[in-house]
Amino acid sequence: MNADVDWDALRAIALAAAGRAYAPYSGYRVGAAALASDGRVVSGCNVENAGYGVTLCAECGLVSELIHGGGGRLVAFTCCNATGEVIMPCGRCRQLLWEHGGADLHVETPAGIVKMAEVLPQPFGPDSLGR
Ligand code: THU
Repeated sequence: MNADVDWDALRAIALAAAGRAYAPYSGYRVGAAALASDGRVVSGCNVENAGYGVTLCAECGLVSELIHGGGGRLVAFTCCNATGEVIMPCGRCRQLLWEHGGADLHVETPAGIVKMAEVLPQPFGPDSLGR
């Protein structure tokens, strides 16, 4: 699926991002990388906080870079831990990915490349608000 995406290169960027994570509380470093609709590659790492609930997942940084860098849509996404294992985005981050990638975003999972519609079925999203 999506043969024009260099998934190995995208995963390498995610792994490099995981190396820059700030995760002194969980010790679990996460990096995320995505291809945007204009060809940009955006990435992020998790940034934890002494107030545990305030922690920013790697996807938060990635989406922030997407918007700050000019916007656009996410077309291909991967995230991994510090050992390079592909991991699934948490529930909140699936919602973030839905907002900025939608049903057709290609997501790398431990079970292969799937569409976002499979990662977040029956979503609440912009359509739900009639936008
Ligand atoms: N984490 C992410 O960065 N993204 C996810 O989708 C899953 C969880 C981070 C948050 C926290 O810093 C650490 O992983 C352990 O939960």
